[in-house]
Amino acid sequence: MTLLDAARKVRENAYAPYSGFAVGAALRTESGAIFTGCNVENAAFPEGTCAEAGAIAAMCAAGERRIAELAVIADGPKPVPPCGGCRQKLAEFGTGDTVVIMATLEGAQLRKTLNELLPGAFGAAQLGQV
Ligand code: THU
Repeated sequence: MTLLDAARKVRENAYAPYSGFAVGAALRTESGAIFTGCNVENAAFPEGTCAEAGAIAAMCAAGERRIAELAVIADGPKPVPPCGGCRQKLAEFGTGDTVVIMATLEGAQLRKTLNELLPGAFGAAQLGQV
């Protein structure tokens, strides 16, 4: 199963009653493992938790930390771009060269690196910790 297939499949489990916008994400780590996530909304915070954040949480819970590639898919007119907060979360666990594949259910695809999505990212280096 490709990363995009995994994202498409997990999207079916999205809980998005407020936005009606179901999103699925799948990431592959440097070890080759795949972790998936879907968006989960709630009444108090209708924007809920993004699919990418769910996949990152699953990766961390499994003890992994390095993202090699991520795919995200939704039923929009254009490939869904990760929100700003998710770009920062992806930068935490990927590199500038990490590829993000964005897709629509209809088959449109866009590929960008994290450097392209979040140029000049704030990171641990600014804290003097790397
Ligand atoms: N959403 C994601 O899950 N990932 C994105 O990259 C963009 C937005 C979700 C959050 C919310 O549940 C819904 O899409 C509408 O913003």
